[in-house]
Amino acid sequence: MFNGVEKVEVIRVTGPKRLRGEVRAAGSKNAALPTMAAALLTDDQVVLHNVPEIKDVETMGQVLSCLGAEISSQGDTLVIQPAIRRVDASYELVKQMRASFYVAGPLLGRMRRAEVPLPGGCVIGSRPVDFHIQAFQRMGAKVKLEHGYMKAKASKLHGARIYLDPRFSSVGTTINILLAAVLALGETVIENAARDPEIVNLASFLKKMGARIAGEGTSTIQVEGVKKLSGCEHTVMSDRMEAGTFLIGAAATRGRVTVSHCEPETLTAVIEKLEAAGVSLRRGKDWVRAEAKGELNGVDVITAPYPGFPTDLQPPFVVLLVTSQGVGVVEETIHDSRFRYADELKRMGANIKRVDNSLVIQGPCSLMGAPVEASDLRAGAALILAGLAAEGESEISEVEHIHRGYEQFTHKLAELGVELQAEVCA
Ligand code: EPU
Repeated sequence: MFNGVEKVEVIRVTGPKRLRGEVRAAGSKNAALPTMAAALLTDDQVVLHNVPEIKDVETMGQVLSCLGAEISSQGDTLVIQPAIRRVDASYELVKQMRASFYVAGPLLGRMRRAEVPLPGGCVIGSRPVDFHIQAFQRMGAKVKLEHGYMKAKASKLHGARIYLDPRFSSVGTTINILLAAVLALGETVIENAARDPEIVNLASFLKKMGARIAGEGTSTIQVEGVKKLSGCEHTVMSDRMEAGTFLIGAAATRGRVTVSHCEPETLTAVIEKLEAAGVSLRRGKDWVRAEAKGELNGVDVITAPYPGFPTDLQPPFVVLLVTSQGVGVVEETIHDSRFRYADELKRMGANIKRVDNSLVIQGPCSLMGAPVEASDLRAGAALILAGLAAEGESEISEVEHIHRGYEQFTHKLAELGVELQAEVCA
């Protein structure tokens, strides 16, 4: 679908290097994926702008194509001609990416049937889909789990009052409920809904299609089902995780980076922690600049649902703490196994101790380059930042994870003055 998705598998970086310059934030992965799935809610053409050229978007494109849609791309614009010729999604695709489960909501809404493989666990945690399934059941669907598939049928899909676990305010469940509820009979109310900006962006797309939604961006979302939705044109919001990664990277390498085309108000939790660490931050309407010199301080971080500190920026932030003076404690409350990369950082010389769901980081450490392995997308980005902060050569393998979610990561680092050696293995 895209020509520009990077195919690099191993990256070599010789540090220390500072990130310096300006970089443009791409469209948001976590907003683009549900919006693409939402296109299935209509028969009309959907045009999406500012879609990031990343592997996960390609995978979602394949999932939609398998169901019957036609997709073409030009630059960062996707044109989707939706059609649903089957209601079963392919296991081969769903196992590559959990977000494929987002097709369940639109399939139920449109076809009153969905057969989607259970995504299974992944390296950052067990990540079940039980909340999604319970929500579909509350809306009148009969759900069977058979041969690794969720098979759901709803002759009358109706609205319901759905109370999500407030500890997580699950992003994916909020999305799947929205995607089913817009075409269900009557009113759906989601309590403890995720408040993430990506959900607000998705709701704005659905409203352009004709959906009736109120309360997005708050913890109570109301949806009044409608009979039919139409096509529309929409711009995907910018990627706050990518923007945050570059800002943290500027701090960890004691550099100066301006991220343009971003939405500073979605980055408040990260900006505040960077300031507490001693990083100097400036922001405008659609840009943020981070600059760090000399010693920074250790700070404590607890990940939490939006507007709390995002779990997806926890790994890069730990790299910053490794380079900072004093103790920093980072508690992960969202995913149950998102610390694998910390063992790789220890191999580079970091002083990190794991205590239950927290990492205790004693800095500053003189990081030394080493061969390390990226276990997932955000871990991969964090290890590259660690390689930039370290003395000597690091070889980061399994970096294909990075291309799942960061558009042209090595090119953007080159724009920030850092040439990496990239290798595509046969
Ligand atoms: N959970 C359940 N049961 C469910 C659903 C979730 O127990 O049915 C648990 C999860 O296991 C997790 C917690 O609830 O412990 C929160 O999960 P949530 O549903 O909010 O996460 P998600 O929708 O699967 C999205 C992002 C993740 C991000 C989380 C949290 C997308 C495509 N993925 O996942 O992004 O970490 O929200 O903000 O939007 C990433 O981009 O690197 C990434 C992992």
